[in-house]
Amino acid sequence: MSARILAVANRKGGTAKTTTVVNLAAALAARGLRVLLVDLDTQGHTGLGFGVRAASGEPTVHDLYRGTGAVDLRDAIRVTNVPQVDILPADRGFSGPDGAVAPLGLATALKPLAASYAITLIDTAPTADALLINALASAHHVLVPTQLHHLAVDGVGQFARSYFHVATTLNPDLRGLSIMPVQVDLRITMQREALQRLEARFGRERLLPGIRSDIALAEAFGREMPLKYFKPRSRAIQDYDVLCSHVMEKVFAI
Ligand SMILES: Nc1ncnc2c1ncn2[C@@H]1O[C@H](COP(=O)(O)OP(=O)(O)OP(=O)(O)O)[C@@H](O)[C@H]1O
Ligand SMILES: [Mg+2]
Repeated sequence: MSARILAVANRKGGTAKTTTVVNLAAALAARGLRVLLVDLDTQGHTGLGFGVRAASGEPTVHDLYRGTGAVDLRDAIRVTNVPQVDILPADRGFSGPDGAVAPLGLATALKPLAASYAITLIDTAPTADALLINALASAHHVLVPTQLHHLAVDGVGQFARSYFHVATTLNPDLRGLSIMPVQVDLRITMQREALQRLEARFGRERLLPGIRSDIALAEAFGREMPLKYFKPRSRAIQDYDVLCSHVMEKVFAI
């Protein structure tokens, strides 16, 4: 299996991007894969999900955007409390890039590191900025978590424009976009309708199995660990395991 990079992104906030990065990482690691996480969102929530915080002055992935010259991201790698999962933490005090951002800056810096991991997951902020372009320009595949509500199709559609832009201009290795519904309850008519609209617009093959609503996911964040290590029998764990199989099929097939 060659090393793969998966970006988790959506322009909309609060769609379970970080929850997915944290819990998918745990599911992948449980299958024996070495996982690197890149916390590109300055909220630093992926790090918090594992109890990792970069103190002021410690190296982070955001050092790439400081304009201080060559940065070796290897210096920023931290182990997490989950075996096989390492992280490049965020700088929670980062207030924006110094100067122009090279569109392939992250891709170039990640290449030597990502080769040591079966899969690298990049968590992104809910914005369409230069850092999102950096994430997409690094990735082989993009996972778009979304709630099933009326604006879901619009939100994924807006994001898809950034995806196609990067895939056709900057990154020929970006070969797939998958949509994953979250907080799913198909007893709700609006959710069934939103799912149908997503299928009609983006194609059934782009839709992955969803994650049901499970408050335990939020509780696990409070304990700074993936849910698997807190309540292993939760329904969200079953769902993330199924998702993990589908993600592996998608990313290792390309
Ligand atoms: N399947 C789920 N069931 C119930 N709550 C969930 C589920 N998935 C995520 N949540 C909750 O939804 C909220 C938003 O999740 P999360 O922080 O992962 O979203 P995000 O897309 O990373 O947000 P942001 O855009 O701010 O980075 C959190 O409180 C999280 O615990
Ligand atoms: Mg987040």
